[in-house]
Amino acid sequence: MKKSMLALSLAATFSLSSPLQAGESVDDIHVYKSPTCGCCTDWVDHLKENGFEVQVTETNNLNPIKIDAGLTPSLASCHTAFIGDYVIEGHVPANDIRRLIADAPDAKGLAVPGMPAGSPGMEMGDRKDRYQVLLFNTNGQTRVFSEHN
Ligand code: CU
Ligand code: CU
Repeated sequence: MKKSMLALSLAATFSLSSPLQAGESVDDIHVYKSPTCGCCTDWVDHLKENGFEVQVTETNNLNPIKIDAGLTPSLASCHTAFIGDYVIEGHVPANDIRRLIADAPDAKGLAVPGMPAGSPGMEMGDRKDRYQVLLFNTNGQTRVFSEHN
């Protein structure tokens, strides 16, 4: 590589806005789930199929994690995940997580409340509930990030 090209690519690297820790890539996601929940495992598989590096911690006590993450009961689902500085709650599609990381909005994270049929990990044949992915902030305010089905 020519010196000028190297300088250019370094400049591009350092202009990225997301504050990553050393050794952490944007594809690293840490999922907290109950040991017995099958739909959580299916969602983890969906993330892996879409190129994420997934670390899983199984626990029967998810509530303290959800409270720490700033999740209100109306946003809650079965599993809670962390990527960079963002919280991902429930069956959020991988593409929405990628857009969140790319856009880097000032927000706490994304949530798909409950367990809508037809979301990733909640496949139920032909049953596809319409559902929204919500962007939420630390004050519990939300706006619609995307809609599916
Ligand atoms: Cu679930
Ligand atoms: Cu789950």
